[in-house]
Amino acid sequence: MSVQGVSGFALEVPDVAQAVRFYEDAGLQVSAGGTLTHMRCPGQDRDAVTLVQGRHKRLHHVALRAAGLADIARRVPTYGGKVVAAPEHFSHTGLWIEDPHGMLLHLVEQPREIPLPAGNRFAINEPGNIGRINRSAIQPISQSAAGIPLRLGHVLVFTPDTMRSVEFVTQALGMGLADHAQDVIAFCCARSNSDHHVLAFARSPGIGFHHASFLVRDPDEVGRAGRRLVEKAGMGDWGFGRHTVGSNFFHYIQDPWGSWFEYYADMDFIDDYALWTPTNYTLEDSLANWGPPVPSDFVHNYEMGEMTSS
Ligand SMILES: [Fe+2]
Repeated sequence: MSVQGVSGFALEVPDVAQAVRFYEDAGLQVSAGGTLTHMRCPGQDRDAVTLVQGRHKRLHHVALRAAGLADIARRVPTYGGKVVAAPEHFSHTGLWIEDPHGMLLHLVEQPREIPLPAGNRFAINEPGNIGRINRSAIQPISQSAAGIPLRLGHVLVFTPDTMRSVEFVTQALGMGLADHAQDVIAFCCARSNSDHHVLAFARSPGIGFHHASFLVRDPDEVGRAGRRLVEKAGMGDWGFGRHTVGSNFFHYIQDPWGSWFEYYADMDFIDDYALWTPTNYTLEDSLANWGPPVPSDFVHNYEMGEMTSS
């Protein structure tokens, strides 16, 4: 009777064609157009990104895969949220709710994503532990995988009260708190069979979209895909690096409106939340274990009224 994963997210953007170009450059494909433009990872059976025309870039909603919608609907008001009507142009199926800060969520009953086929195992040679013998790790560039986004992994949103957002998604939506860093950033998972985080919160004066993260196969693909998108997008980036919290390798590339697209690989996996112990990290560990200097606007909420682009 709870959230089982992230399904997608919707953004209002001032220039839908520009947003489509950005996400196509990132490796996604348009699946349907019209008033709403839907985009998905190649080979996937569901949309990850929905774009709708707006005056500014703004988070429209996050879609979460869930079971037991009637039970969730009963719990939502107890924890400061409310059940709302489907917004104009969007599906009336599932359950639409607002969290205590007015962030719109769409809970949908749907099966898991199409299982991803296993590739060659990423094996490294360490002192005392040779994992790859008599073959090269790296193929010529012309034969190297470019780094196709395989599925949406998580969405990180801004919130004015991180721990209240955590209380809402854990108590009303049945998620788990995986880890957090004080009351500044928190990472939430599904209670079984989940990436370390599928929905995360960072403190800001208001709500907003910070980034969405897409899985690629291994750290080399994070590197290749990240460099490719940096060069195409012409905006800022942060990476290649590795997070402490969640352990994933990352590369973030800034979208035309100042928020971020992340490629990730090798994230911690929580098979059974009862076997996981959440850690409260210091702020030193809240961003990266290692990586380049953090861009000055990495945690700036451009939805608070300061736009970088028309
Ligand atoms: Fe992320």
